[in-house]
Amino acid sequence: MMKPIQQLGVIIAVILTLGSTAMAAEGGNPKKGKHLYKKECKACHSANSEGPELTPMAKTMAQWDRFFTRDQHKSKPEVFKALSEQELKDIQQFLYDHAADSDQPQTCG
Ligand code: HEC
Repeated sequence: MMKPIQQLGVIIAVILTLGSTAMAAEGGNPKKGKHLYKKECKACHSANSEGPELTPMAKTMAQWDRFFTRDQHKSKPEVFKALSEQELKDIQQFLYDHAADSDQPQTCG
């Protein structure tokens, strides 16, 4: 039997773990995200396009999370509004998984 104080410790540890993962990109399908990125984003984010050239490793994991949760493409809000919540999660996951400080940085989208 655990003492109540030990049980409390376990509960706090679980809450801290859940809390920290909730901050990071999750729940997205990176494979779908890659496909969606090519379809929905690349046209405006390649060389000589309307927006700046972008690749997953153009930003860090934290910067991608911030972009999707706070900025939400505010320079052209209609871009994100045209996509579903799940589609945006998938794109975010793809970019996050290959960000500059990720395990597998990727230069191509
Ligand atoms: C219709 C064209 C268009 C589409 C589609 C588009 N963007 Fe953009 N994007 C822009 C423009 C224009 C800017 C603003 C550039 C500026 O402020 O100088 C921008 C800015 C950004 C920025 C900030 C640039 C930076 O250097 O920090 C990010 C990140 C970005 N877009 C990501 C995306 C993602 C992800 C998608 C696909 C879901 C997407 N964009 C789709 C045109 C587009």
